[in-house]
Formats: sequence, structure tokens, C-alpha cells
Amino acid sequence: MISAFTPATGAQAPSQASFSPPFDPALIASMASALFGALPGEQGRTAGVQAPVNLAPAGSPLSSPAGFGPAVPGTPIPPGQVPGTNLIPASPTPVLSLAHRAPALLPHAQAGNGLPDNLVTQLPAYEPRFGGGVLGVPEAVGPSEAPVPAFPQRREGAIPFGLAAPNASPFYFLSDSFDHPSAGGLPIASPIHDGFAPPAVSQPGLATASRPAPPAGVFSTEPKYYFVDAVELPSGYVTPAKPPPHDALPQAGAGQHPPFDVNAIRRDFPILQERVNGQQLVWFDNAATTQKPQSVIDRLAHFYAHENSNIHRAAHELAARATDAYESAREKVRAFINAPDVNEVIFVRGTTEAINLVAKSWGDQHVGEGDEIIVSHLEHHANIVPWQQLAAAKGARLRVIPVDDSGQVLLDEYARLLNDRTKIVSVTQVSNALGTIVPVKQIVEMAHRAGAIALVDGAQSVSHMPVDVQDIGADFFVFSGHKVFGPTGIGALWGKREVLEDMPPWQGGGNMIADVTFEKTVYQPIPNKFEAGTGNIADAVGLGAAIDYVSRIGMHNIDRYEHELLCYGMQQLGLIPGVRLVGTAADKASVMSFVLAGYSTEEVGNALNEEGIAVRTGHHCAQPILRRMGLEATVRPSLAFYNTFEEVDRLVTVVRRLAQARVH
Ligand code: ALA
Repeated sequence: MISAFTPATGAQAPSQASFSPPFDPALIASMASALFGALPGEQGRTAGVQAPVNLAPAGSPLSSPAGFGPAVPGTPIPPGQVPGTNLIPASPTPVLSLAHRAPALLPHAQAGNGLPDNLVTQLPAYEPRFGGGVLGVPEAVGPSEAPVPAFPQRREGAIPFGLAAPNASPFYFLSDSFDHPSAGGLPIASPIHDGFAPPAVSQPGLATASRPAPPAGVFSTEPKYYFVDAVELPSGYVTPAKPPPHDALPQAGAGQHPPFDVNAIRRDFPILQERVNGQQLVWFDNAATTQKPQSVIDRLAHFYAHENSNIHRAAHELAARATDAYESAREKVRAFINAPDVNEVIFVRGTTEAINLVAKSWGDQHVGEGDEIIVSHLEHHANIVPWQQLAAAKGARLRVIPVDDSGQVLLDEYARLLNDRTKIVSVTQVSNALGTIVPVKQIVEMAHRAGAIALVDGAQSVSHMPVDVQDIGADFFVFSGHKVFGPTGIGALWGKREVLEDMPPWQGGGNMIADVTFEKTVYQPIPNKFEAGTGNIADAVGLGAAIDYVSRIGMHNIDRYEHELLCYGMQQLGLIPGVRLVGTAADKASVMSFVLAGYSTEEVGNALNEEGIAVRTGHHCAQPILRRMGLEATVRPSLAFYNTFEEVDRLVTVVRRLAQARVH
């Protein structure tokens, strides 16, 4: 564990050797510990966790390293805990921020979060609202028994995270000949690796016992709310188990991840320690954007401190580092969505830009007068407006798959919309306003049978469930980095190679050309053809770190935990008189939209904010589906895997209090 605190090695070593810090970061952190430990209430800042203890002398390698938050001297180290590892996460204090300015980025403990793995295992698993014991969540065991997690969906021959391929050049240069149109091939001169390598055994928030993968079975829409596993409630009632979606296929790595510990996971997200209106923040606005783990924040800082350069062009060390990091992130995106080819992954600003790219490029080429474009009634404006613009420009027609009163698409009606004029079907995988999980695989299959292509909007799905684009079968899949715990301003468009190669570039400029004369331009192959200008390099790298983070937890684990949380929240909100749940499809993720009789959505949102609870109110950029439900706005709490049952209780308490105030 101590070795995890030693400075980074490799390319940073020379600068460290020649730099003599004006202070000792460990000493600063130790002084900060004493200061903050003495402040009233400071020990209670971390929800549900005892303040840390540390007997190590200030400045010794066993005391808190900078950035790991204060340790409190003078308290015994609990049995079984490694000295120096009993830490709470860094809080955003000026002193500790100063300590972050050590000559090189101080590596974090194994989880990249300031938390040693053995502490993670000492914390309770998530709260047993429905009887955690009978949910099959095992007792945590010691670190020596912790299995090394397997990375899912890694292809044969792929480079393991943090490792360079044997004989790989650390540099990443384009050959001179590549700049000429006669040159063939792709601009990848060597296998890629990400120079930033936290220990490969990092297991954020993981408990240490395995849990079986969801059973194979046939999808059923009954009952409306089901539980992940059959659960015996205190009353003796046994809930039905959740069947997987009918189109679920076994995923590589499924069942290999142990369940996670939500309390430990929360320590990876510094912002969750914020206080709002005197209360600890509850972040229930995950459908709008997600919070970032410390490992993503650190990765961005590391990029700007050690790697910042433009990519692909300059023949110098930092260009090589930046390019390696950027292309490594592309590979991480590929693996995350199980795309077959890394060059089919195009970095864009986000989902909106990705859909616009397809509408403007593919759409301009393939959609003509009288053609038809199909979307569903659930769509976000980003999956309506670009198609509307295309239809208006081309004289084409936008058609809409209707939904039932629960907010699920009507496949029979969809079948009736398909015809030989249908050119593209573009649907969301999860509704941002209602949370409906849409049967996209079936929708794509039906589109293909009609001779159309299909785009799936994964903006609201990728953070909640495993995604396999090969299984879904769509021609395009798009998502935003900031919705999956990565930075804003970065996202990905994946498309099938043959479809992308057939498309004209959308924007023109540098980076995407092979040769330019005043008469003619020859373009680079994919993906560069669609990445004109200097891209969002650092945030792409940050997205890669976010993908690493959720992959180490395991998307199956995230899916299962969140499902229980959602069932609980829907049930509890639904019990409050005057609450109308909006979006009650059998298959749902994350979103618990509702309205409360006697209150505007703003009033409810304000009341929640006063208690430190962040939700979005309004139309959620999805006006057509809200109007289909007879509304202009809802209150929209939306969950992520760092939320807890206790937080749901806090939400429900406020809403219940409002409801009672109107009744009496
Ligand atoms: N699409 C984001 C939302 O649903 C902004 O809130």
C-alpha cells in the first residue's frame, strides 16, 4: 500500500529528480490533519464514516499522503487495518489543494480515490431496505481474499490497461508518406497505451465476493415493479425476481465482478461531500449530468501537467504522450460499447453533435424528397430537431412511434410505420424524461428488415447498463461523456465501418485531411475524416478514465444496484397521496419523474433544493413526451450508482411533507 504513494515513474522521473520541493507534501497534509481534525464537526463530514485514525508520526510515510484528507492523530488504528491507510477522502480545502501541487502527481491508493482497498472491505455493503441479508449481499471479507477483477469485453490481442505492448514505440508519429494521398492505411504508427497508469488492480468501492449474473430468461412485463432477486421482505412477502430484457445476451465478463459497496464508492466522488443549504448534497440530477470520480479529476490534471500537446502532428515527446492518451481513450470507448473496430469510434462534443453529424452527413447523402425518418415519441429534442431540419431541407417526412400510457413504445404501431420510404430509424435506448428502457434491438431488427438503417441514442443508457453495440445491431450508437461520469464537451459516435466510410465528412479543416491543393482535398480515413480541427483531447482522456472507473465496478453490478434503488424510490414516491408518477413502464432505468397535486414543479424543486437535494424540474428537453402524458413539466429525480436508499428517504420525506401541508 505504501508503494502506491511513491511518485510516478517513467517519463516524469527526470523532472522530479531535478526538482526540489519547497515543502514536504506529507508534512503539509499532516499539519492539515491536525488543523481540520480539531475543527468542530469536521469528523462528521463524511457520511456514515468514522473520522480516520492514524498514529503515524507527521511526515512519515505512514501518515496521510497529500490529497487524501486529514488523518486524526492519537486514535488507535483498528485491528486488521494497515497503518497509513485509514483515510477519508480529500476535501476541497485550500491547504490540501496546495499539497496537490507536489512536483509530480501523487498517485492515489489502489482505487485511485484516496481509499485503500482494505478500508473499502471494512465498510458495510449497501443498505438493506429490503433486507440486505436476503438480497444475497455477502459479508465483506479481507483484502487477501479479494479476487483480481477481470476486465470485460477485452479482445484478444488488446493491450491490457496501463501496459505497453512489447516492442511498442513510446512515440506516436505519422510517417512522412502518410501525408500524401498515395499513402494507404491508417495513421496509427504503433500500438497505443495510456501513459497514466493507476495500479491495474484498482477496484473502486468493490466488496469482495462474487454474485451470480442475472439468470437467463424471457422478458415479461408483469409485474410492474420487480426486484433484482427474489427478496423476502420482513412481512414474509417474497418479491418476484427481475428477468433480464428479452434481448439480453451474456456479456464477456458478466458475473465476474463482485458487488460494490456504495459507501466506498461515494468516497470516490468528492463533490458528494458538498453541503447545500446546510445539508449534505443529494445529487439526483444524474440524467442531466453525472458527478466525476477523483480518478477522472486526477486524470485531467495529469494530462495538463504532464502530457498537454496537440496530437498527431508534432514530432516531440509531449505530442507522443498526448496522442497515446487520446488514442488509448478511443480504445477504451470501443471496449466499453464492444465495438468491433477502434477506428469506428469518432470523438464528438456529445450526443447532440453526434446525431447532427449523422443527420447532416449521412442524411444529406441518403434522404430525399418523400423519404421518411422515424423517431419515437420519447425522444430528447436532440433526436428530433436535427431530423426535422433534415426533413424540411429535403422534403422528407418525420414519423413518430407512439407510446402507451406507461411510456413504452408500441411496436405494433412502429411496424405499421415502416415502409420502403423509411430511410433511418433513430431511437433512444433510455428515455431521459421517463426512464423507459426501449427495446432497441427489436426496433433495429425491424428497421433493417424494412431496408432502413438505425441509430441508437445511448446518452441515458451507458451509465446504467452494459451496452454491446454488436448485439444491438444498430448502424450508429451515440453517447455523451458527461453522462457517464466523464467530462463535459466530449462524447462518441460509433458507426459501422462501411456506413462511415461511405459518408462524406461533415466539417472540413485540419486533422481530417491527407492532402490539400486549391483544386482538391483528399481526406483521411475514419475516424480522422470526421474529426476536423483540434479535438477535445484532454476530455477524451478523461472519458477514458471514467470508462476505466465504471468498468472496474462492472456495469452489471451498477445495473443491479440501481434497479433496486429505482424500485424502492418508485414504490415510496408512489405511496404519497397526490404524487403522480410519470413513466411507469415495466422496464425502466434511473428516472423517477413525478408531479405533486397542488404544487408547481418549480415549487417542489425549490423545496428539495432547500434540503440540499438536486433534481431537475421542467420539460427536460423532451416536450413531446411530456405533452403526450398531458403535462408541460415534471419533477425529475434521476439516480446513479452512488446514490443510496437513505438519500431516497430524504427525497420522499420532503415530498411527503409537502403533500401533507396541502391536505391539512
Ligand atoms: N439531456 C439532459 C437532461 O435530460 C440535459 O437533463
